[in-house]
Amino acid sequence: MALTTEFTEMFGVRHPIALAPMGGSAGGALTAAVSNGGGLGLLGSRNGDPDWLARELPIVTRNIDKPWGVGFQAWAIEVGAVERVLEHGPKAVMLSFGDPRPFAGRVRASGTALIVQVADLEEARQAVDVGADVIVAQGTEGGGHGARHGRSTLPFVPIVVDLVAPVPVLAAGGIADGRGVAAALALGAAGALIGTRFQATAEALVDPSIARSIVEGRGQDTSRVLDIARGSTGPSKYTARTLGHPFIDQ
Ligand SMILES: Cc1cc2nc3c(=O)[nH]c(=O)nc-3n(C[C@H](O)[C@H](O)[C@H](O)COP(=O)(O)O)c2cc1C
Repeated sequence: MALTTEFTEMFGVRHPIALAPMGGSAGGALTAAVSNGGGLGLLGSRNGDPDWLARELPIVTRNIDKPWGVGFQAWAIEVGAVERVLEHGPKAVMLSFGDPRPFAGRVRASGTALIVQVADLEEARQAVDVGADVIVAQGTEGGGHGARHGRSTLPFVPIVVDLVAPVPVLAAGGIADGRGVAAALALGAAGALIGTRFQATAEALVDPSIARSIVEGRGQDTSRVLDIARGSTGPSKYTARTLGHPFIDQ
């Protein structure tokens, strides 16, 4: 039996699960697989890179007749990227990590659902103010990008649910199986947004050794120093959580 939540009803999907729009790894094939599997696939936009979108968007539109969306990092969006993506008819655009205000109006004016990911209460209030249709509450367990001074998923999700009601909330961070999704629903969320678990799939655009490392790795093996090593130009508030590696130790 499928679970019905405000999220599944809003998008007409079977499962209260969304794919996190992971930069270069949530490409068209993974987005299509999640949407065709009954969740909401969200394509990573790789900062709106036109070549990437020209390659990956058609993979989505050719292979899905179900709802799908695209995610952007708000601090890094290339000029015109949101408009270009909207022309392909996504059902949702997700904005994370930065000020959603410059883009929210354009998304909502197009009739596309606006999803905003937040890592603290100030961001949650701002998401309500810009008219988010769905708010993703990201706890510090989240892999990849996250906020340096965030809170754990378990305590963070319910306070966001209460703060932003009646806007539906997805829980994100450390959710990787049915028990995690059930916990998200118990916290008052309308579903879960899942990243790392979907990276360890055949469809994700990662080297098989990365998928294997995720499966074999342990939570205590993770680190947040990658941004310094790779010279990230993003806001220092939003860090990247990855598996440890000799390169990072160095
Ligand atoms: C490799 C990786 C890359 C990510 N890139 C993005 C991104 O580009 N935009 C975004 O909104 N979130 C990104 N995220 C964060 C997710 O949106 C989400 O909050 C997180 O994956 C949830 O936690 P989980 O990985 O434990 O499922 C990324 C996550 C991972 C693991």
